[in-house]
Amino acid sequence: MGQNVHTVNKGFQAPRPDQTRSPDQIPSPFYPPQLSTCNLSANGLTNALSKSMKASNQIAVSELQPTISATEIQSFGSIADRPISLGHKVRLAGCTALNALLADTMSIRDLYKKHHWQVSGHTFYQLHLLYDKHYAEQAALVDTIAERIQTLGGVAIAMAADVAETTRITRPPIGREDPTIQLFRLQQAHEFIIAETRTAAHAAAEAGDDGTNDLLVSDVLRLNEFQVWFISEQLAGTGFTDGGKDTAAPSKQSKP
Ligand SMILES: [Fe+2]
Repeated sequence: MGQNVHTVNKGFQAPRPDQTRSPDQIPSPFYPPQLSTCNLSANGLTNALSKSMKASNQIAVSELQPTISATEIQSFGSIADRPISLGHKVRLAGCTALNALLADTMSIRDLYKKHHWQVSGHTFYQLHLLYDKHYAEQAALVDTIAERIQTLGGVAIAMAADVAETTRITRPPIGREDPTIQLFRLQQAHEFIIAETRTAAHAAAEAGDDGTNDLLVSDVLRLNEFQVWFISEQLAGTGFTDGGKDTAAPSKQSKP
């Protein structure tokens, strides 16, 4: 094991919330007093945690990140051999489309969890439950898509920073939104994913990649069509409309 890996082990003990004292009495980075009175951004929160840790003589967050230098065994975008009787070109095309879809599926999965936590109003309970059900189904789909990419010999996109750079789902604000806006965001995200899935499914069928076509139609398309039914019916009761604009579909998608 490399030396750098051990930089985290300097006698540091993770601070634990102490239930017997009020937050401003606790010398813990989890309860910097200013957090209760300030509206901090994500960067502001990180800085506040670092300052608080220094003030309490603890190791700063940045010092707890080990530097790991290692050689990749397969680079992202490359295709390894697989004995599945499909050519390199076909598997590369499949992995490229699936990785784009994977990033978008991870985004809608996380959008569901964000809305699950942040929902409000008289429909709170039913939306809170519906969002978490859809989240769990999308999470299972993420694994299915990722493992199809690996099956084809590719490298599945995995980490949040890489997903953020890849996804085409519109980024929501960090704060809470009205339930109607939550539903509209989800409806748009679903429609985009449905459109890109049909395009990818047609391409896989034409290339002879039946396994990928089956996954795209049977798993991805069917689930997204089913979920957006629930979302659009919830939205229908609100009277909210986007003015009839079909903004979610990719520009190349042909519609009957
Ligand atoms: Fe929950």
